[in-house]
Amino acid sequence: MATKADLQIFEDRQVLAQAAAGQVAAAARKAIAQHQPFRLVLSGGSTPRAMHHVLSQPDYVEQIDWPLVQIFWGDERCVPPEHPDSNYRMAEETLLQHIPIPAGNIHRIYGELSPQQAAADYQRRMAELFNLRPDESGIPFPRFDLILLGLGPDGHTASLFPGSDALAEKHLWATGVTHDQPPEPLVARVTLTLPVIQAAHQIIFLVAGGDKANRLAEVLSPAVGEPLPAQLATPSNGKLLWLVDRAAAAGLR
Ligand code: 6PG
Repeated sequence: MATKADLQIFEDRQVLAQAAAGQVAAAARKAIAQHQPFRLVLSGGSTPRAMHHVLSQPDYVEQIDWPLVQIFWGDERCVPPEHPDSNYRMAEETLLQHIPIPAGNIHRIYGELSPQQAAADYQRRMAELFNLRPDESGIPFPRFDLILLGLGPDGHTASLFPGSDALAEKHLWATGVTHDQPPEPLVARVTLTLPVIQAAHQIIFLVAGGDKANRLAEVLSPAVGEPLPAQLATPSNGKLLWLVDRAAAAGLR
């Protein structure tokens, strides 16, 4: 099956959030009907907040069989879980504390460890949860049912930044990265690697805001020279969906 890319444009962030929540619920129902559990990878950034809010509403709490959902993250900053920059904390506050999900189904990246330790620990726990024993090449890679991703202003996604060595990682499932982007403080991160992202059954990018318009147009065009990380984050045997708001789509023809 070839990768199937699709793009949907919504009036504003709120409509985008509703659509994204609908996609998550549909993917959950499909995975749970076929096998258990539904393995969902959340993204950081600010765009998913509104979708988390929608998923926390009673309608969705009823639609999704949360005890059969296993939650992971695409990336994390190396900060403790209570830190304001923690992706886990954002999801906990906006989604997890509002839904009936057992604590044992939540598989955060331990940002309080060093990036290398946190990445190795995350890979070890993923291997246990997927019941996989990767060889030295990392094979077999885990296949998440749905990976949610965002688009950074420089074309990064998860914590895969343009020019980063992490883009060349072929064997590890997760790796530590150090990203220097003044005026942001230098902070180490942990990210899923491209082989794991590309192995997903489905990837959905959520992109909102006019500040993303030029980069989104570039990402959705054929790469000129070195592809941007977001252009590489495509499933090799799954579905790819871009959910964007009108402001972010302003540069698309
Ligand atoms: C993070 C994410 C990062 C994010 C994009 C988009 O933790 O910051 O991993 O890849 O998804 O930068 O962020 P926004 O949703 O804030 O635009």
